[in-house]
Amino acid sequence: MSLPANASNRRRLDDAPLLVAARGGTPAHTPVWFMRQAGRSLPEYRRAREGVSMLRACLTSELVCEITLQPVRRHGVDAAILFSDIVLPLYASGVELDIVAGTGPVVNHPVRGAADVAALPGLSAEQVHGVGEAVRLLVHELGETPLIGFAGAPFTLASYLVEGGPSRNHERTKALMRSEPETWHALLGKLAENTLEFLRVQLDAGVDAVQLFDSWAGALSPRDYATYVRPHTDRILRGVAEYTDDRVPRIHFGVGTGELLGSMWECGASVLGVDWRVPLDRAVRRITPAGGEPPVVQGNLDPAVLFADWESVRDEVDRILAEGRSAGGHVFNLGHGVLPDTDPDVLTGIVEYVHSVSRTARLD
Ligand code: CP3
Repeated sequence: MSLPANASNRRRLDDAPLLVAARGGTPAHTPVWFMRQAGRSLPEYRRAREGVSMLRACLTSELVCEITLQPVRRHGVDAAILFSDIVLPLYASGVELDIVAGTGPVVNHPVRGAADVAALPGLSAEQVHGVGEAVRLLVHELGETPLIGFAGAPFTLASYLVEGGPSRNHERTKALMRSEPETWHALLGKLAENTLEFLRVQLDAGVDAVQLFDSWAGALSPRDYATYVRPHTDRILRGVAEYTDDRVPRIHFGVGTGELLGSMWECGASVLGVDWRVPLDRAVRRITPAGGEPPVVQGNLDPAVLFADWESVRDEVDRILAEGRSAGGHVFNLGHGVLPDTDPDVLTGIVEYVHSVSRTARLD
């Protein structure tokens, strides 16, 4: 097999704790980063975003670079995550949508039938050129800190497109899925293509790992997930594995996915994201094949716990580190994104604490 086009220019970062842990090795300390570490919890973020819309900011390379670096400078996290959004490739390809503060993505003309799906545009690399540019700037600025690229998985993207915005029950999405399975699979097939293209742009520019966010997949039963969603997500994660010759770790994450963890792991992920509802050791037991290797997991501190007193936070961190020991590797993270009113000093405190105790534990 010939080498993928983007293999030769990739940084190696052989000792970076995030990449060592993701590959099942023994890092110098347990790596830690936070979903939504760049965002409204940081005053420097709020200043940088003044007067610039979210989607515009995501396509302005210098701004993406600055905002992505902010939490790395402030907290000393073990990874940067590209400042972008899961709906950016839809927007860049011409879908009329906006991100409304306090609400989330809102789509002007929701996708409700076969004609809407047929009219959905594909994504070309040129349309997200600014994202590739930002990744190139970041790889240069970040030194030894890995950069995580990301994209939205087809179910979560489809939910925004079909509902027209955030949804509690996903009723229109589930109705389309069942009533018009051909239209549904055509929609998810297109979204999978777009997502893969968005990830290829990031991979070509040098991201060191990728995370696929299927935030709302937990709304599905295991059977519906397997029938209506998994083939498309599988295509993306296996597509990334092939494109990178299996060199770039693939993190797969969703919320409320306790019953889906096995399926989400088998999709071709190399690290499984777990929210706070399932203890890490239980997640590991659930998905380790009989006689096989335990998986690498990421998670899973409840973001609301960060509002409690420091002793409570520390107790939770201790518990999660202990439960993570049964995994094939542990990347410390929250179980979902940082909440906007979080005190950033608590995040810095967690990074320092995880580093210090996991270093000590290794010496025992
Ligand atoms: O983690 C990071 O630091 C990287 C940045 C990132 C953003 N969005 C920036 C953002 C990531 C990884 C995302 C992914 C994303 N976007 C997801 C999956 C992750 C998850 O939380 O489940 C989802 C579902 C979206 C859709 C979306 N975009 C929502 C729900 C919102 C919040 C709306 C709000 O104001 O409450 C956005 C906007 C958004 N994306 C913000 C940020 C920093 C807030 C924009 C602002 O500053 O006003």
